[in-house]
Amino acid sequence: MFNKKNKDTTSIDIDTNNIPKHIGIIMDGNGRWAKRRNLPRSYGHKAGVETIRRIIKECNRLGVKYLTLYAFSTENWKRPEDEVNALMGLLVEYLKKEFKELDKNQVVINYIGDISKLPLRCQEELIKAKENTKSNTGVVMNLALNYGGRAEIIEGINRFLKDHNGEDNLKITEEILENYLYTKGMPDPDIVIRPSGEQRLSNFLLWQCAYTEFWYSDILWPDFTEKDLQQAIIDYQNRERRFGGL
Ligand code: FPP
Repeated sequence: MFNKKNKDTTSIDIDTNNIPKHIGIIMDGNGRWAKRRNLPRSYGHKAGVETIRRIIKECNRLGVKYLTLYAFSTENWKRPEDEVNALMGLLVEYLKKEFKELDKNQVVINYIGDISKLPLRCQEELIKAKENTKSNTGVVMNLALNYGGRAEIIEGINRFLKDHNGEDNLKITEEILENYLYTKGMPDPDIVIRPSGEQRLSNFLLWQCAYTEFWYSDILWPDFTEKDLQQAIIDYQNRERRFGGL
């Protein structure tokens, strides 16, 4: 929870009554961070995991309910095999090493995406972590893994058709489709943050981002700090959301 007594100077500007319920983050720039240091790309991903640790804590402190982290897209399989393996290894290591701390902080570990294509050890750790944290009361951390917005929508429609096989006058509505998405029951993201200077959605939460505010910055993900998150929230709070109205 947000601790009013221990606010630092930046936190003072945050309206604690208007904290985004759901924040999405496209964690970009790990490779460039490593390259600038003449390190292999996997070191950048490792540094990116440190940022996840800090940001999760800060989201919990501020009272954010959902944090969706784009960790591996349906397109990321095109990367060199050793980088894909390094990312999968980091995921397992993260879940094993961090479980206690995450659980202590009441984090609910969840995932979105087709994890059946991930190595078995990743699937096992994810399922275990999800099961063991489902009753926690803190921020829900959605790890987007083998996730793609288009694939999610197509898969949802196909599951709907399968469930209603042979019915006459089949018609899908927004409400029905939302119940077939990975994010079923969750609010749409209020804000999506993309560091590293890129300004695209890259197949992230396509359906859910219809009215989401975007926040970009040149900071590379491993350098992203709690202060940057606070700044993104302050900027979000200063925007006028009209959802198509006046
Ligand atoms: C994009 O940066 C980042 C990724 C594709 C992976 C993000 C993964 C992590 C932060 C760590 C693994 C996740 C967990 C949950 C343990 P990029 O490599 O495309 O950077 P670049 O654009 O600078 O090359």
